[in-house]
Amino acid sequence: MNNLMTKVKDQLDQAGIKYEFTKLPDDISMDVDVHMKFHGKDMSHAMTNMVFKTEKGFIVAQRRGDTQIDSKELKKLLAVQRLSLATKEELEQFGLEPGIVPPLGYEIPIYMDNKVLEKDVIYTGTGDRLFTVKLNPNDLIKVNQATLGDFTNLEDVQSGGRVLSGIRATGRLHLGNYLGAVKGFLQLQENPNYQNFYMVVDLHTLTTPYDKDTLRESVRNIIIDYLACGLDPTKSTIFIQSMIPEHIELAYLFSTVMFVARMQHLPTFKEKVKQHPENVTMALLNYPVLMAADILIYKASLVPVGIDQEPHLEVAREIARKMNDQYGLNLPHPQRFATRGEYVPSLLGEGKMSKSIEGSYINLTDDLETIKEKLAKAPTDAGKGAKAPTEGGVASLLEFVELFQGLEKRKDYEKQYTTDGLRYKELKEELAQAIFNELKPIQEKRRKLEQDLQYVDQVIEEGALQARKVASETLNEIKKAMGINYD
Ligand code: TYM
Repeated sequence: MNNLMTKVKDQLDQAGIKYEFTKLPDDISMDVDVHMKFHGKDMSHAMTNMVFKTEKGFIVAQRRGDTQIDSKELKKLLAVQRLSLATKEELEQFGLEPGIVPPLGYEIPIYMDNKVLEKDVIYTGTGDRLFTVKLNPNDLIKVNQATLGDFTNLEDVQSGGRVLSGIRATGRLHLGNYLGAVKGFLQLQENPNYQNFYMVVDLHTLTTPYDKDTLRESVRNIIIDYLACGLDPTKSTIFIQSMIPEHIELAYLFSTVMFVARMQHLPTFKEKVKQHPENVTMALLNYPVLMAADILIYKASLVPVGIDQEPHLEVAREIARKMNDQYGLNLPHPQRFATRGEYVPSLLGEGKMSKSIEGSYINLTDDLETIKEKLAKAPTDAGKGAKAPTEGGVASLLEFVELFQGLEKRKDYEKQYTTDGLRYKELKEELAQAIFNELKPIQEKRRKLEQDLQYVDQVIEEGALQARKVASETLNEIKKAMGINYD
């Protein structure tokens, strides 16, 4: 147990207060959203302790997780002119670290927002990255002597209503992209409560080696895939990322609140470093920051993506929180919209389906013969045993059966495995046909669109106009809040 945490514990014990310490999993991210999910509670039960610097010295503000600091109100309460978040170095003077400030145990005056007291129990930090303390806030103020005040606003959940997602132009779309992302796009596009934005992220495509001579064609091919799958430009804004240069400007502004070490430790970054050790560029490190700008420039609260993108969404939420706290903004905390196919396994039985692993994927443009050939190569076993495998090639095949032929069919096969034995040749034939049946109408629509490239280009042009209107508005608002306006 570290010193600070021991101090917190001692002070609570001395005051005779009821509290509970909970250990978080070792590999958990620093995101409060994720911690609250772990506790099975919503953000209104979280209490964040934030250290601010003013001209009169440092203070700690305690706010509920579903609220934002209203800096005007807080300044009024403190009777100060200047208010900024304490830097890492400043926190170190008090033995504190960014993001791990406990609710007591230091010599800094504390101010608690009244909304915290509306809850009987709250979860907050202990000074140790891996522990949370749960207690009654009314008990807490008896010990930490917090001054009460009203200095927060409830987060505007209504700023939701917008959905955004994107796919890189690294090759043709495969079943992973389709089931994990595009199916979600199609579902949300039909919901009149949402305004949908779907793009091809050509700038993110540049973060791994690419071919400049074919990029334009690849980008247009993904737009055609979107349309062929059923994205409808009268319902969704369909566009190309780099045609809205505001994304890049916002990414730079966002990069001012993110630390290099945080980005280097992301699992997605480490994976790319392993794949392309010769190409560890600044753009690769900045990938999630640009992605956060993509999302937040449209104030999107919902992002249909596969489960592999969760670490990037955590970064987007972290950026939103920091920008809101530091500059009094009201950016949403985007959540992932999950589909049934949020994790499509590789045909090879190890890891996920991915464009970068040959033999792992089926493209949306594959014909029946190609699908059969690819499935034929998927590894299997003797087809008989006490229990159907839960990992490896057979487990992947069963997952595909469930995704394309339904759960009943999967259960049938699992039963065969434990009784008469499973005949993979038949399973693969039927599965290939089921996959092709879903892809055939998409391929037919695609062929028509390929004959009408003028229409495709018109969609791209109009999409850019619509997207740019929203994006430039948000960018201006953020620049103003950051003090970058010279009108
Ligand atoms: P990309 O091109 O790597 O992946 C595109 C989408 O496909 C999903 N996906 C999968 N889903 C399930 N199982 C799989 N095997 C599988 N493989 C890929 C991904 O989760 C993703 O949804 N960083 C994004 C691109 C991006 C973006 C954004 C997305 C840039 N800016 C803003 C949303 C919002 C990506 O991974 O693309």
